[in-house]
This record gives sequence, structure tokens and C-alpha cells, in this order.
Amino acid sequence: MVGSAHRTTIQRTHGDEMLELTHISKGYANGDEVVDVLRDISLRIEAAQTVSVVGPSGSGKSTLLNLIGGLDRPDAGTIKLDGQNLAALADDELAAVRNRKVGFVFQLHHLLPQCTVLENVLLPTLAGPVSKQQRQSFEQRAEMLLEKVRLTDKRDSFPGQLSGGQRQRVALIRALICRPRIVLADEPTGSLDAEAAEQIADLLISLNQTEKTTLIVATHATDLAAKMQRRFRLDHKKLTPMS
Ligand SMILES: Nc1ncnc2c1ncn2[C@@H]1O[C@H](COP(=O)(O)OP(=O)(O)OP(=O)(O)O)[C@@H](O)[C@H]1O
Ligand SMILES: [Mg+2]
Repeated sequence: MVGSAHRTTIQRTHGDEMLELTHISKGYANGDEVVDVLRDISLRIEAAQTVSVVGPSGSGKSTLLNLIGGLDRPDAGTIKLDGQNLAALADDELAAVRNRKVGFVFQLHHLLPQCTVLENVLLPTLAGPVSKQQRQSFEQRAEMLLEKVRLTDKRDSFPGQLSGGQRQRVALIRALICRPRIVLADEPTGSLDAEAAEQIADLLISLNQTEKTTLIVATHATDLAAKMQRRFRLDHKKLTPMS
């Protein structure tokens, strides 16, 4: 028993698979017909890898991230996330996996207007019961992340009092607060200037290095995409590696 557990540990530190897409297809109904957005996409990503997906507007980048994060289900094919087949999970189990493992940075951030910046950042930590000690640790992490994106002085402001780029940074660190195993970032630097965009890229990459977070970024920003270890282009329903 001890021997096999030990071997499992070794396997997990070398080539630990985080995500496996097998023959994924997805379309949306348009009147009577279904229009394909993704067709027969297969992909394997190991833990702690960084990945970018670029492609024209409407090519299906957000659709792909939504499938990976279990927000939507494919029409065909299977998705395995951290060893779990998402198709085998009921909706509530899927939501639980998402809360526990996935940090989602949405293309349009959804901050709660009546909550302060700090409260918005801590929101995902309210999903389950936590000890006083864990709460303190989340609060410390929130302060650390706020500092990294230079928003410490805005911690008690409300979203309506922030610029678009500042809101986007709050949404980003909210996705990171629970130390997700995988971060899915949909256009995380979309409304940021060059300096703020670079800070966000640096933050994502430093968390990848220190916390071994797997990172998948969908973006139009070629400089952000270029910082990822594996780069793909999504076009004509297919995902192609870029050299
Ligand atoms: N819920 C939906 N219902 C119907 N069609 C949809 C839906 N979501 C997306 N689509 C369509 O699927 C295609 C892909 O959309 P998606 O949002 O994935 O593209 P994207 O690559 O993220 O684009 P962008 O770069 O503009 O964010 C588009 O043609 C879009 O109109
Ligand atoms: Mg999109």
C-alpha cells in the first residue's frame, strides 16, 4: 500500500495531467440549425503549464474556456479536469468542482456594486465554512493580491468608484483568492493600459511559478500570449499549436 501511494506521489509531481479534452465539439442553435463553433478539438495540458489561445473575435475562445471550466457542456467529446470526467458530474457536483478548483476571470467582470473592493475579492471564500484561521489567511492573501495590482488604497471603495481597468484587476484577484488549481482568464488585460497589462501578466506568471497554478489565457494581446509556454490559435473551429 505504502509503496503504491509513494509511486502515485512521484507520478503526480512529474507530468501531472490537469486537463484533457478529447474530440470536443460545440455549436449553438441559430433558428432551426445548429452552428458549430468548435469541432473535434483535443488537447492535453499538464499541471503548472501556461497556455494561451488567440484567435479572431467570434472564433470560440470564450466558448472553449466556458467548457473547460464546466460553465457549459460540450455537444460531443469528453473533458477531464484534474482527473475528473466533467460529463459524469451532475450540475451541482460540477458547480462544486468549479468552486474548488477553477479560478475564472471573465471577459466581462461581474463585481457586486454594493460590496467594497475587499469584500468582492473575498466573495469566493464565502462559499463554504471556513475556520477563523482560514479566514485570516484569506484576508492576508487578499491584502497581498491587492498590493500586487496596486489597489491597496481602493480596498474600501465600491466598484462604481473605480475605473474599468481597476475593476478588471479586482475581478482578476478575486479569481485567485482561493488558490485555484487552474486559472481560466478570458481577455484579462482587455481594458488595461500597457503598464497595468504587464502587471497582470507578471502576477499571473508569478502565481504560476510560486503556487504551480495551471493557467489558460484567451486573449487578443499578442505580447501576453507570447509569455505563455504553449501557444495555440483558434480559428475555423480548430485549435492549432503556434510555432
Ligand atoms: N450563448 C450563445 N448562444 C448563441 N451563440 C453564441 C453563444 N455564445 C457564443 N455564441 C456564438 O459563438 C461564436 C463564438 O463566440 P465566443 O464568445 O466563444 O467567441 P470569442 O472567440 O470569445 O470572441 P471574442 O474575441 O469577441 O471574445 C460567436 O459566433 C458567437 O456569436
Ligand atoms: Mg470572448
